[in-house]
Amino acid sequence: MRASFPEDFLWGVATASYQIEGADLQEGKGPSIWSDFTYEPGRIDSGENGDIACDHYHRYLEDIELMTRLGVNSYRFSISWPRVFPEGRGQINQTGIDFYDRLIDELLKRSIRPVVTLYHWDLPLKLQERFNGWESREIRHYFGDYSSSMFSKFGDRVKLWITMNEPYCSSHVSYLWGEHAPGKRDLRISLSVAHNLLLSHGEAVKRFREEVRDGMIGLTNVSAFVEPASDSRADLRAARLYDQFVNGWFFETPITGEYPSELFSRFEIAGVSPTIEDEDMELISTPFDFWGVNYYTRNLVRSQESSVLGSEVVQGDLPKTEMGWEIYAEGLEGFLFKVFKEYGRKPIYVTENGIASKDALVDGNVDDGPRIDYLRKHFSAALNAIKGGVDLRGFFVWTMMDNFEWARGYSKRFGLVYVDFKNDLKRVPKKSFNYYRDFLRSL
Ligand code: FCB
Repeated sequence: MRASFPEDFLWGVATASYQIEGADLQEGKGPSIWSDFTYEPGRIDSGENGDIACDHYHRYLEDIELMTRLGVNSYRFSISWPRVFPEGRGQINQTGIDFYDRLIDELLKRSIRPVVTLYHWDLPLKLQERFNGWESREIRHYFGDYSSSMFSKFGDRVKLWITMNEPYCSSHVSYLWGEHAPGKRDLRISLSVAHNLLLSHGEAVKRFREEVRDGMIGLTNVSAFVEPASDSRADLRAARLYDQFVNGWFFETPITGEYPSELFSRFEIAGVSPTIEDEDMELISTPFDFWGVNYYTRNLVRSQESSVLGSEVVQGDLPKTEMGWEIYAEGLEGFLFKVFKEYGRKPIYVTENGIASKDALVDGNVDDGPRIDYLRKHFSAALNAIKGGVDLRGFFVWTMMDNFEWARGYSKRFGLVYVDFKNDLKRVPKKSFNYYRDFLRSL
């Protein structure tokens, strides 16, 4: 199957700073909203946090060595904003810059292309304290300045940039469902946070265009492959509204410069729609180069008229992962076609895809059959999309190694490499690691 993918296809693994780095308040790094949130009782399963995580900050060489053994040609990671700007802006933490310099240089030495996400959820806590972080329009200037610095520090070596990871999660999962930092529950606020995130994405793209000579910049979204729970008219409408809420809001708006109208009108009537100022939509729709698609599952949706959203997600009956997410590789294929056709015919990278499974270390081995099966099916779905004409250019498995899975702590394992959190963070490649390695070699 590998041989049927384009020759210059990027095959990689993906991670995020707070989930793996550890060294949380060390070597000049400032706290992020997650450093704080994880210490609030009841927020994280088992009260865990990312203080140490996989200690990748100190063990990055060992981790890159593993990537080399795996045979990937690219690695998607995120820069921790508070590691380089402890206060969010102003004084730079040179030690933090040095870390990313060393990481990038080592990757290049191993012929692994660095793909950098500027924001994967660890906002400097100082900005939260100063003006409520993403709740303030001001943040776009801060994000723009931070992005500019990263372009100037690393742009000579990094050619693929992602402004942010899943603004749906940084807005609604954090401010409506209350599951992620800072854990609020208010639709009006989460919609204005989403607006400020999109403005900030636009601002970073604008800076990139002005300041960087070569390279590409894109946006990574979570993708919900939405299906109605029945073919009743009410459920079909609910599926449409939900699709606008999770997908359209973040995929369509940056292309058209308009929020999906049907849902927007609903929000206006309910008095929760975001305030839009002159030129906001122009900034939001600054042309960018590619889409990042994070795909895990489908969402089955039915009508819920009493909710402002008009919809609710229901449990489907397909086999599920340890996260309780249905396994549905056809959804990846369908979603890639949808993104390509409906949202600007841009190049696409699958920037995350993977599975939490019940992994156990037995006699030094982890036999994670379900992960192998999952990856095989999703690689094949990606190939079908390419054959059907989608400009898919890369696939990043989530994730390199078991890590801090946000509100679920260390209980959910997504890695190709097992991390023994009880035994000096020992790394043990799982069977799926060997599967991916052999797949990559099978040219
Ligand atoms: C995605 C996140 C990533 C990881 C996976 C399982 O939504 O981007 O950090 O937690 O889910």
